[in-house]
Amino acid sequence: MLTNIENSKISASDTWTGNRLLDAGKRDLAWLYRAHAEQLALCRELEDIADSLPASINRQKCIYAAKALGPLIKGIHHYEETVLFPQLQSSPDATDALGPTLERLKFEHCEDECFAEELTDALLKLGSGDQVNMEAVGYMLRGFFEGIRRHIAFEREHLLQGVTD
Ligand SMILES: [Fe+2]
Repeated sequence: MLTNIENSKISASDTWTGNRLLDAGKRDLAWLYRAHAEQLALCRELEDIADSLPASINRQKCIYAAKALGPLIKGIHHYEETVLFPQLQSSPDATDALGPTLERLKFEHCEDECFAEELTDALLKLGSGDQVNMEAVGYMLRGFFEGIRRHIAFEREHLLQGVTD
């Protein structure tokens, strides 16, 4: 259950995630692991929503997920792209393959952020009881959370092994 979502107005800051616990914490590697855990929890919520379509929709859950999605994703991407990736690139252990890998991950970030915006709109419509194409929203949800899970698994297995602050 998403319990740490701020209800305050949206901040313009790229580092703001909308999650009370994350926004209170110092940005370091431990923060990134907590943020990834929150993102995976959000994926479970999105999977629950996908499973609930079309007849058993919890509208409140859709609204919470819609609010959490964009800020959380952007906050994590900002940390990775401004702190983690430069740190990895400056490491003496960096291989020639690292640059293209990080470029691909940045491209995935960009795609995921666009996708998250579309999904936020769809979730807000579901949450307010508007008519939506349930099948299309179901595909959208599954495509999104499956992609995020793969992305996080890749970063954990291939980027974060052995990395320290
Ligand atoms: Fe990432």
